[in-house]
Amino acid sequence: MSSSSPNRSPRQSLCASLMLAVAVCVCVCGRVVAAQRAGSGIGYREAPAVNIRRQGTVAGVEVPLNKIGHRAWTYLGIPYARPPVGDLRFAPPKVDPPPSWNNVRNGSVHMPGCISDPPARPHPVNRLFTSMSGSSVDRIRMSEDCLYLNVYRPEGAVPDEKFPVMVWFHPGDFHWGTPMYWDASVLAARHKVIVVTTAYRLNILGFYTDNTAGASGNWGLMDQAAALDWVQRNIDSFGGSAQSVTVFGQGAGAVSVGLHVVSPGSRDKFHRAISMSGNALLRTAVASEGPSDVLDALADKFNCFRNTLTGCLRNVEAETLVKGGGSLTRWGPVIDGPALVNDSNGREPFLPDAPAALMDNGRFAQVAHMIGYNRMEDAFDAFDRTDGGGGGDDGGDGITREKFETLVRDMLLDEEAEDRKLRQQQQQQQQQQQPAAAASEEAAGSSDGGDGASGDADGNDGGNCTMNVDFVTDTIVLRYVKPTDDAETLRRNFVTMLANKVYGATSYRVAAYVSKYNVTYVYRYEYKVRAVKALPAAAEWMDAPHGAELPMVWGMPYWPAAAAIDWTTADRRMSDTMMALWTNFAKHSDPAHRTSSPINFRWDEFQPRMPRFMALDKVPNMSLPDQESDFWNQYYPKVLAISQQCCPNFTVDSAAMPAIPRPSTSVAFLLLPFVATLSSSLL
Ligand SMILES: *[C@@H]1O[C@H](CO)[C@@H](O)[C@H](O)[C@H]1NC(C)=O
Ligand SMILES: *[C@@H]1O[C@H](CO)[C@@H](O)[C@H](O)[C@H]1NC(C)=O
Ligand SMILES: *[C@@H]1O[C@H](CO)[C@@H](O)[C@H](O)[C@H]1NC(C)=O
Ligand SMILES: *[C@@H]1O[C@H](CO)[C@@H](O)[C@H](O)[C@H]1NC(C)=O
Ligand SMILES: *[C@@H]1O[C@H](CO)[C@@H](O)[C@H](O)[C@H]1NC(C)=O
Ligand SMILES: *[C@@H]1O[C@H](CO)[C@@H](O)[C@H](O)[C@H]1NC(C)=O
Repeated sequence: MSSSSPNRSPRQSLCASLMLAVAVCVCVCGRVVAAQRAGSGIGYREAPAVNIRRQGTVAGVEVPLNKIGHRAWTYLGIPYARPPVGDLRFAPPKVDPPPSWNNVRNGSVHMPGCISDPPARPHPVNRLFTSMSGSSVDRIRMSEDCLYLNVYRPEGAVPDEKFPVMVWFHPGDFHWGTPMYWDASVLAARHKVIVVTTAYRLNILGFYTDNTAGASGNWGLMDQAAALDWVQRNIDSFGGSAQSVTVFGQGAGAVSVGLHVVSPGSRDKFHRAISMSGNALLRTAVASEGPSDVLDALADKFNCFRNTLTGCLRNVEAETLVKGGGSLTRWGPVIDGPALVNDSNGREPFLPDAPAALMDNGRFAQVAHMIGYNRMEDAFDAFDRTDGGGGGDDGGDGITREKFETLVRDMLLDEEAEDRKLRQQQQQQQQQQQPAAAASEEAAGSSDGGDGASGDADGNDGGNCTMNVDFVTDTIVLRYVKPTDDAETLRRNFVTMLANKVYGATSYRVAAYVSKYNVTYVYRYEYKVRAVKALPAAAEWMDAPHGAELPMVWGMPYWPAAAAIDWTTADRRMSDTMMALWTNFAKHSDPAHRTSSPINFRWDEFQPRMPRFMALDKVPNMSLPDQESDFWNQYYPKVLAISQQCCPNFTVDSAAMPAIPRPSTSVAFLLLPFVATLSSSLL
């Protein structure tokens, strides 16, 4: 457990006095354990103390931001729930009574992050953000006692209507990450919004479940919801409007946003949603159940009896538990409705059903949405699997058509293997718990969108189905390869194909649902950062890999801690544009709201009949109507279905996504030659 007094260590003060040269500080602080807010240090003035009802008074810091000529007031490390330790491990966050204190709480330093298990090879964008705090991923302070949030606000007087509020859920696969790296001083001070960044439980501590009401999982998401409650109760004390709250997140943070949109309990806690490169309909977003096969392994590993596992695991030291249990499975969100049907405490599930089913029924927060993805999402990983052996092969000079086909085939075989495993597991589970709760399981299975094949949870004898991989490969190759032999174009088409399949198609599906009820904006981020020191690992051909928009949205070119990076004028302009779009949306539900420079372009709302996106590049511009969504959401599932027709009772319907409203899915759409003519638009 960590000490609860957030005092600064002597090493850190030493560092602070060296802040004159940030580059120097980064070197010196490399070894310092606690990560500090970028730019904190010398001679900062205190910001006015704020009294939080039922909790106490917190003192903040005034952060000068010379590059933008404004100052931010920051209040770090505010507890929003009791420490989730002891009996509160694997339990919903306890917020009543809220944690309180007597003396003035020092809000100038971050509290420890939730215990995490970072990847051996951090993503380059992640490395960029961690380097800002002068700390490396594996050296940040961590504790099981981690439910703290941070408030960043503009200095000075509060306007009558109060500041709009943006709440950030950080990325990290639900396994790692911390709010520490997300310094919102620039965003808040420059654009007059309040930004709240929050920690939430991760990994096995955040998502352990035994699929019963005793431990139904989703703890990390409930933490986020508790932070949203805290905002509703307290943000007015900081000058924020509880009636204007925008949730935003990237990666797992965007999946979180999507899940709060469909969670009945979160519905009234926010008014707008921004999903960046992630959403609740991603194949990997939600599991229909907790991974029951790892429960035995956990029991073995920690010497527990299987029938008292949860209580036994509560007694394991937290870091040991994460080290030993964190990588046994992909801990993450689950559909907890079935586990809680008979809960004696009458707890509401966080996720009563699959997200697609909830959206189908209109059961979601019908708020303004902004949703998008990056043109080359998986560019960093795309070629590792066959070439690099982990060496970070960047695809060399491009790829041949044969290579393209091999990559597609491998991707499909992987998916097929996953789906088959899933079907077999579901079959086993069905047999084990036969008559129990058949109805709710069916509901969960049949609408679990994914890429189609995983949807047929109840396909009885489907466990042994195999896909005609050649047939499906041909379809994808036809769309993305035919008109060219150029190796660089093929490499690019492969990477954009992956991005469109995984992120683009699901973003469009979400947009189709929510645009029925409220304004919806879709973007595709395409800008290549010009500063070579920002993402040194990015090959020349990669424009917008996963996370590339983050430094721009967060105004990193203006961060004092990022002064050593060779940002260009174009980078700064792009950052100006992105910050304005994001905060305009938070203020007006309209990213291109005209009153604010530098926005001088139109951003049309999403129309399901004419799907277009805003292409966010140096000169942002609406795209032409796009057929990618039709290809992946309407046509491709049919191809999958046909490719599996040998399987008993596998029909087009069971492979297709849950229907989204479309005016014209014509018969012509089933004709392959048609697809070939579409594909020229991709080059
Ligand atoms: C908060 O802690 C910092 C670092 O230890 C210290 O410089 C500052 O004076 C403290 N502020 C208050 C109000 O105690
Ligand atoms: C819930 O309770 C009902 C009635 O007591 C019982 O039939 C059913 O099996 C229970 N379901 C679960 C999942 O425990
Ligand atoms: C759209 O969302 C806003 C909040 O973003 C809400 O005030 C408004 O009522 C919603 N409109 C509809 C038609 O539901
Ligand atoms: C599926 O495969 C298993 C083992 O390979 C076999 O025992 C079983 O009979 C097969 N089921 C069907 C429906 O073919
Ligand atoms: C914007 O996009 C349209 C088509 O979507 C294109 O005709 C036009 O030239 C583009 N404008 C700029 C400035 O790129
Ligand atoms: C296929 O569907 C038919 C009619 O609905 C049913 O009688 C049969 O048992 C199903 N077969 C399998 C293998 O599920």
